[in-house]
Amino acid sequence: MTAPKLATKTPTKTAMHPADKASPRTSAKASSPLPPPKDAIALLKADHEAVNQLFAEYEGTRSVANKKALVAKICTALSVHVQIEEEIFYPAVKAALKDKLLVPEAMVEHAGVKNLIAQLEVAEPDGEVYDAKVKVLGEYVKHHVKEEHSDMFPQAKATSLDMAELGARMVTRRDELLADPAN
Ligand SMILES: [Fe+2]
Ligand SMILES: [Fe+2]
Repeated sequence: MTAPKLATKTPTKTAMHPADKASPRTSAKASSPLPPPKDAIALLKADHEAVNQLFAEYEGTRSVANKKALVAKICTALSVHVQIEEEIFYPAVKAALKDKLLVPEAMVEHAGVKNLIAQLEVAEPDGEVYDAKVKVLGEYVKHHVKEEHSDMFPQAKATSLDMAELGARMVTRRDELLADPAN
């Protein structure tokens, strides 16, 4: 399947990674990040945890500028994450499992996530509707991540897929997308 191009126009140079939990005010710093996990599933789980932290941070944020900066980080991180899953991880899992269920359902869920990202990228954080969009996006992501963790990842682990090789490809692709979202 052809994965859509990264939707975000204003990427921060920040990958989703446990080291990236800084507030938006400190997001510009580029201090020695931890090396990214190499195993595909560890990499994706680290992404999930990092974005979950960003949503939690949003909950406690009142400043419009900080909300906007956090949402930019969330949108970039999620866009890159879904793209590397769609380009690399999902096709490998689909083939290995001869899957007709998990990956198609995950793709439909990704479409819902991307739709809300597209709405947030052109919205101003000016009230309850914006907050509601962020909240619903967080809920979509939470539901989707739960299914990946409970169904897709355990089944993928039980195959002979080379998770280290898949992980390395995803890290390379993630870095490319963060450097040039139109790539
Ligand atoms: Fe994921
Ligand atoms: Fe996903």
